[in-house]
Amino acid sequence: MEKSKAADLKGEIHNGKGMDIGTMFVKCAQKEGDKIVFRSQRNAFFEIENNDFTKNILDNSKVRYMVKEAKLFVVGDEALQFANMFNKEVRRPLAKGVISPSEKEALPMVELLIKSVIGRPSHEGEIVYFSVPGEPLDAEFNIIYHSKVLEGFLRTLGYTPKSINEAHAVVLSELAEEDFTGIGLSFGGGMVNVCFSFMSVPIFKFSVTKAGDWIDQQVSMAIDETASRVSAIKESSLDLTKKDGLNKIETALSIYYNHLIEYVIENIKQELGRTKKLPQIDNPLTIVLSGGTSLPKGFEQRFKERLDQLKLPLPVGKVRMASQPLRSPAKGALVAASADEAKR
Ligand SMILES: Nc1ncnc2c1ncn2[C@@H]1O[C@H](COP(=O)(O)OP(=O)(O)OP(=O)(O)O)[C@@H](O)[C@H]1O
Ligand SMILES: [Mg+2]
Repeated sequence: MEKSKAADLKGEIHNGKGMDIGTMFVKCAQKEGDKIVFRSQRNAFFEIENNDFTKNILDNSKVRYMVKEAKLFVVGDEALQFANMFNKEVRRPLAKGVISPSEKEALPMVELLIKSVIGRPSHEGEIVYFSVPGEPLDAEFNIIYHSKVLEGFLRTLGYTPKSINEAHAVVLSELAEEDFTGIGLSFGGGMVNVCFSFMSVPIFKFSVTKAGDWIDQQVSMAIDETASRVSAIKESSLDLTKKDGLNKIETALSIYYNHLIEYVIENIKQELGRTKKLPQIDNPLTIVLSGGTSLPKGFEQRFKERLDQLKLPLPVGKVRMASQPLRSPAKGALVAASADEAKR
C-alpha cells in the first residue's frame, strides 16, 4: 500500500473491505450498490450468569454471546446494556489501542466481534485493510503482536488481510482533493494517531496513549466523579466554545482537552524536527481531524487556537473536521483495499 500512487487511490471504490479495530468500536466499511455501508459494534463484553434459560432467550434474540469454560459473555453493543442494568462497567478487549495485556478473555471476544462485523468475504481471498495504531511515542509496548493476531483472525475468515496505519487511513479517506498530502489525525478512545503524508506516502506516523479514555480518567480523579459519568457528560453535552459559566466537570474537561491538544501538537512539532528531509510542498498543509474525541462542539476551533499559539515549522493552510469523523479510518482502509483489488 505504501507504494501506491495517489492516482490509484482516486479510482471509484468497488471491491474489498476496510476495517477499523479500535479501543471503543470495531467497524467495517464496504461498497453495497452505489453506497458505502458501515457496520459497527462496541468493542466490549460483559459476563452474565450462565444458565439454560438465559441462553434460550439469547438464542431467540440478536444478542451476540459466547460460552467459555462455563461462563457466559454478552459481546458487542448489547454488553453495554447489560452492564448498565447491573450498574457495572463493561470489559474491553483492547486498551490504549492494542489487545489488552491484562484482559485474559480479550482474544476470543475480539475474534467474535470481527467476524460478526465483517461477515464472509465476497470472493475467496478478498482484500481487507485493517487499521493499526502507529508506534506509541509515550509507551513501552509495540504493535507487532496486536497486528499479527488480527491478521490471523481475518485470514481464518477467508480474507487476504493487510494492515494500514489508522491516521494514514484518515488521509486516504479525507485528503483526495489535496493529492493525499497533509496531516491526518484520529483522536480515539485509547490513542491519538497522527500521520504526515506526502502524495499518499507517509513521511512519519506515530501515536500517543493519551486520548478520550485518558481524559475521562484524569477528570474523574481531579473532581472525584466516576469515569463513566464524566464520559457520559463529555459525549452528550460538552461545548468547548463555552468560556463562561462552566460547571466543575466542564471546567475539568476543558482543561484536559487543552492539555491533550497541546500534547499532540508538541509531538507533531518534535517529529517534524526529527525528520531529516522534509518534502518540498508547494501549498500550505491541510490538517484533518477525526475520531470520537474530536466530536464535541468547538473542538476544531480549540485545535486551531492552540496551533496558532504553538505553531508548526511548516505553513498550515486549512484545519478541518473529517466528513464523517467516526468513520474515516474504516473508509480510508476501504479506499486502500479497493485500489489493491483493482490491480488484481
Ligand atoms: N460526542 C462525543 N463527544 C466527545 N467524545 C466522544 C463523543 N463520542 C465518542 N467520544 C469519545 O471518543 C472516544 C472513542 O473514539 P473512537 O470511536 O474514534 O475510538 P476508537 O477508534 O475505538 O479508539 P482508538 O482509535 O483509540 O483505538 C471515546 O473516548 C469516547 O468517549
Ligand atoms: Mg480509532
